[in-house]
Amino acid sequence: MTKYVLAIVLAGMGFVFAAGLKGLPSTLGGFEKWAVVAKNLDTGGPHSGLSKQVFANKIAAAAWKKTGKLPVGSIVVKTSGKISSPGFVAVMYKRSSGWYYEEYFAKNGSYSIGAGGANGQALCKDCHAGGKDELFTR
Ligand code: HEC
Repeated sequence: MTKYVLAIVLAGMGFVFAAGLKGLPSTLGGFEKWAVVAKNLDTGGPHSGLSKQVFANKIAAAAWKKTGKLPVGSIVVKTSGKISSPGFVAVMYKRSSGWYYEEYFAKNGSYSIGAGGANGQALCKDCHAGGKDELFTR
């Protein structure tokens, strides 16, 4: 009996862990349950031709439809392909110094920064400068 209970508990934990994408920082935990502010984008743009979705955390979502810039603390995530295993996870964090960019790619089932990040802000920022408050889908 104990064995069965243990097995069920472990299976349950496995499910919970599987729900998050491995390698992403905890600040992005559960982003797939955030508000979807743009979906099924198929612009064929720079972020692959796959169907793309844009998610906004609570702070960003609350201000998304208002005018003006998104407040500090906003996080906006764009994914491509299946939400359970996206090809990439592109992130914009609104800091007091402005938007900070990171793009995570899957490698062997785990996500790590492949663009943006500490040495890659210019690549993202230069193009996003063409958006409103650096955003294209708002
Ligand atoms: C050549 C232009 C270009 C570059 C470079 C670029 N983006 Fe984008 N980005 C876009 C466009 C256009 C969209 C609108 C949605 C779409 O078509 O994919 C977008 C959308 C986004 C969004 C959703 C929020 C929004 O702006 O609507 C995020 C998050 C994002 N990009 C992150 C990044 C990150 C991180 C990088 C750098 C690693 C990056 N982008 C580099 C053009 C660019």
